[in-house]
Amino acid sequence: MFKFFVVLLQAEKNKHMNILVTGGAGFIGSHTLIELYKAGHTALVVDNLYNSNREALRRVAELIGIPEVPFVQADIRDRDALEKIFVQNSKIVNGKIVNGFDACIHFAGLKAVGESVAKPLEYYENNMNGSFVLLDVMRWHGCKNIIFSSSATVYGDPAVIPITEDCPKGQCTNPYGQTKSMLEQVMTDLQKADPEWNVVLLRYFNPIGAHASGRIGENPNGIPNNLMPYITQVAVGKRERLGVFGNDYPTPDGTGVRDYIHVVAALQAIERNAGLAIYNIGTGQGYSVLDVVKTFIRVNGVDIPYQIMPRRAGDIATCYCDPAKAAKELGWKAQFGLEEMCRDAWNWQKNNPNGY
Ligand code: NAD
Ligand code: WQD
Repeated sequence: MFKFFVVLLQAEKNKHMNILVTGGAGFIGSHTLIELYKAGHTALVVDNLYNSNREALRRVAELIGIPEVPFVQADIRDRDALEKIFVQNSKIVNGKIVNGFDACIHFAGLKAVGESVAKPLEYYENNMNGSFVLLDVMRWHGCKNIIFSSSATVYGDPAVIPITEDCPKGQCTNPYGQTKSMLEQVMTDLQKADPEWNVVLLRYFNPIGAHASGRIGENPNGIPNNLMPYITQVAVGKRERLGVFGNDYPTPDGTGVRDYIHVVAALQAIERNAGLAIYNIGTGQGYSVLDVVKTFIRVNGVDIPYQIMPRRAGDIATCYCDPAKAAKELGWKAQFGLEEMCRDAWNWQKNNPNGY
């Protein structure tokens, strides 16, 4: 499990917010919804279900204890559908029609690194165009607060470790990473041109795990690209063995080191009228592939056969962040360690061997 925790610190305590969550049926989005409701907020999800399942939202509702999560199945590139959502959710205040969303948490996008190399046009079109339409519709309806799910991938091969937010963005080696980097720039320029916008760029490192209930979790289509879902599929018997991509990196055991995190969404900066804010979302602790494998085996008592393979193209040796800025400005600190992430990821997979 990982706890998707939302740092929903508010200037006015107990202020209720209604949040538009794009891509809310997905891995990070579904966990974030639980934290939003737990903090007393409400949400409307827009998702085209390209990489997710309606069942995730049913289970989220069950975990929150509400009949259903407000949901519109639509593509964010569909301007008419987005317009309709904003119109239908507007409210009347002092005789005037006003926008009904306090902010948007924007998760919708395609995210498979390897696939983006094979299908660059699809990735650029979906991620860029979807965000353009979303931002434009938000603007016309006066909703100018956005939290964008960016990625550590924007740092490329990082100039310094641990990575601070000041670290220059690097050369992204794949179209997926390019879309994140370019969209960060688009939103930065938008905020500069119109300071009414509050833009929070969250650079997620490696979110893994699942809700502790085992009811929701990561549910990749086909062969998992990422380490943890691959491990859980080996554990459940769907794959024979894990391939460890390289053991000759300049790291303590030669395997790649990453910053695995129970995810987060932060709204606090928006409440503070932050303008533009950028945060690394990681623990500050790097673990190697073999650290993860060994911890998974120890915590869960299941064997994970593995085999050393050649390096994966585009991989870097080490990537972990300095989380001090989020701690200082958001009061946010990762609460769960690798053991809990391994335990909860397995709890989800063993209870849902075939996903949703
Ligand atoms: P996910 O694929 O589980 O969720 C993304 C959701 O967006 C899916 O439900 C998908 O159906 C939906 N979607 C995609 N294109 C859409 C469109 N045009 N219109 C409407 N819905 C659309 O991915 P996730 O792991 O939950 O990631 C969420 C966001 O965080 C993504 O933007 C991703 O790039 C980013 N991120 C993820 C990670 C990670 O390792 N999981 C790391 C850094 C950043
Ligand atoms: C982690 C480590 C692999 C699979 C990716 C994206 C990044 C972000 C998070 C979205 C590496 C090794 C993996 C396997 C392995 N996503 N590995 N065998 O590459 O750090 O980051 O997901 O924004 O943008 O690039 O994560 O989980 O793929 O790999 O040995 O079967 O595990 O080489 O060292 P990565 P990952």
